[in-house]
Amino acid sequence: MKSVVIQQPEKLVIEDRPIPQPQTGEVRVRVRRAGICGSDVHIFRGHNPFAKYPRVIGHEFFGIIDAVGEGVDTSRQGERVVIDPVVSCGHCYPCSIGRPNVCTELQVIGVHRDGGFSEYACAPTRNAYVVPDSIPEAEATMIEPFTIAANICAQLKPQPNDVALVYGAGPMGLTVIQALRGVYGVATIIVADRIPERLQMAQANGADRIIDNTHLDLAEVLKQEGIRPTLIVDAACHPSILPQAIALASPAARIGIMGFSSEPCVLNQQSITSKEISIFSSRLNSARFPQVIEWMKEKKIHPEKLITHSFPLKHVTDALVLFEQDQKTCCKVLLDFSE
Ligand code: NAI
Ligand code: MN
Ligand code: ZN
Repeated sequence: MKSVVIQQPEKLVIEDRPIPQPQTGEVRVRVRRAGICGSDVHIFRGHNPFAKYPRVIGHEFFGIIDAVGEGVDTSRQGERVVIDPVVSCGHCYPCSIGRPNVCTELQVIGVHRDGGFSEYACAPTRNAYVVPDSIPEAEATMIEPFTIAANICAQLKPQPNDVALVYGAGPMGLTVIQALRGVYGVATIIVADRIPERLQMAQANGADRIIDNTHLDLAEVLKQEGIRPTLIVDAACHPSILPQAIALASPAARIGIMGFSSEPCVLNQQSITSKEISIFSSRLNSARFPQVIEWMKEKKIHPEKLITHSFPLKHVTDALVLFEQDQKTCCKVLLDFSE
């Protein structure tokens, strides 16, 4: 089989590898489509602190179960599935309270173990979720990115009367915007980014108001208009954003962060406590695949709007480079295994 292997940072090779045998409790998936994520590029470039090399990347993928390991019902063969990349131990403290995404032994498929940019991939049976026939395979690759949005929304509990502010209109910001509007019915959604084309996409995906903060002080703009966001999502993840978000937030606001920067940012207690602001963080997803599959079935979200490009597997390097360099035109770039 062909597998996209990052042998070491900056060294991507499409290797011929033996087709893996599913182990006890695993299924094997014949991969048909996969989505490229920023973290795949980070592993390629050597910027992911969790990655070990060599690694088959890819954690957003759809395929058909074609073999099962010991102890797995053979009736699962032939199922159309997506794979939850979160592999957890099931018995540590976070697992015991339904938060396997921060399992003490967390393994992420495509990061800590081999992933889905491969003609075949194995995963624990419980990580394979059936995709209804009404969801086309390209859209099914978007389930995982939407679980990230679902997870942060589960922390923030958006309400229709919220005034939401989303920093960043990349793939993450856009999935969050779609969920805020389509699932939670949030009435007002303001989006800030520095790329006009991405702000246009934000508008097309449910933003009421877009603000290019390249040269504008966002806090100043909102203050002048008397806007005090009650729910803020940082999907841009620069360390300078949290202090600003705290400053411009309404009293009793909730703020969600999802970045992994190790750079410090300066906060003071007064700015948080005087307004009793709640700050949440969100990592990956805690078993949110069924929820997102329902959202798609009910057409509350529109994954097709976020898919901008598709490449055959053999052109994976072109796909990664385009995704990395052309933020103006790219949102989700897919790999198609059928070509
Ligand atoms: P992206 O890089 O495509 O998008 C980020 C956007 O933020 C860009 O459009 C950029 O122009 C904008 N931006 C940067 N600084 C800004 C600022 N100060 N104000 C307003 N906009 C600003 O990244 P993507 O894929 O959308 O992911 C966003 C972030 O989410 C990344 O940092 C990524 O590491 C993180 N992430 C976190 C996950 C989690 O589970 N916690 C999962 C996936 C991504
Ligand atoms: Mn991803
Ligand atoms: Zn655990």
